[in-house]
Amino acid sequence: WPFFAPLIFQINRLKKEKDAVILAHNYQTPQIYHGVADVVGDSLQLAIEATRVDQSVIVQCGVHFMAETSKLLNPEKTVLIPDSRAGCSLSESIIAEDVLAMRERYPGVPVVTYVNTSAAVKAVTDVCCTSSNALDIVEAVAGDSVIMIPDQYLAQNTAKKTNKKIITWAGACEVHETFTAGDIAELRHAYPAASIIAHPECPPEVIEAVDFAGSTAAMIDWVKSTRPARVVMVTECSMSDNVASEATGVDFLRGCNICPHMKRINLENVLWSLHTMSEEVTIPAPIAAPARAAVERMIEMSR
Ligand code: 13P
Ligand code: SF4
Repeated sequence: WPFFAPLIFQINRLKKEKDAVILAHNYQTPQIYHGVADVVGDSLQLAIEATRVDQSVIVQCGVHFMAETSKLLNPEKTVLIPDSRAGCSLSESIIAEDVLAMRERYPGVPVVTYVNTSAAVKAVTDVCCTSSNALDIVEAVAGDSVIMIPDQYLAQNTAKKTNKKIITWAGACEVHETFTAGDIAELRHAYPAASIIAHPECPPEVIEAVDFAGSTAAMIDWVKSTRPARVVMVTECSMSDNVASEATGVDFLRGCNICPHMKRINLENVLWSLHTMSEEVTIPAPIAAPARAAVERMIEMSR
């Protein structure tokens, strides 16, 4: 921390000078999460908070689709991402033409799209969802069938909780798809008394084997309210680091993977971003209007 202090000091000073707010995802490093972020949260919380900010500049500490969501909801504001190469394997797994082909194959079936997608994919979508409202959105759309893209595992995990037929796409999160039921069995063997919780981007065999599954915010809330003596958070590694200081007395055991995309953002490039007002996120108007409608529909349906 002493090493980070000068950077944190400069970022917080520049933030005021530039009328900027920092929105940070729960997978950001503790120095960003605790040191410079004004708002932290899961994808849904960040999208909702993006509609409430007063500042004229938003610096998104997260991956590119999150910055795009902030821009969609704040077309008049300047939205910056400290490294525009911060992508996402789910977002990379599908393009708008794929969605249009699915629509042709399943005429009239509503398309529910995970926010972990490009604005161009959102633009050909009926409504977006996140890991925290996926079931509610699937239940709320019309009809007995739903196209749910692009995360096959979030879709399969949601399908288990609804009577609707879910049509999936073959996308996966590179961080969560590698966890297996065997990993959970090994953790249970090594730490018999520990609670094990996971993100719903994990395969169904993992979700079935854990004590709780939910969005990143739901996992943090679960740890803070349940206060297990020992816990393994089967997700991105910064989650445990960030919640550890807020859940004293809980022993956090390692069983995590690092998201290389989230880790592209660091204090150095946040400072650079504020200093140079780059890299600015822009979305062409014909894509922005329908993509915004899909995100706003989700926020409306989540109230
Ligand atoms: P949450 O919406 O649960 O924060 O998930 C976002 C994400 O990218 C998880 O990998
Ligand atoms: Fe994408 Fe997975 Fe990284 Fe989340 S953890 S940003 S879903 S690659």
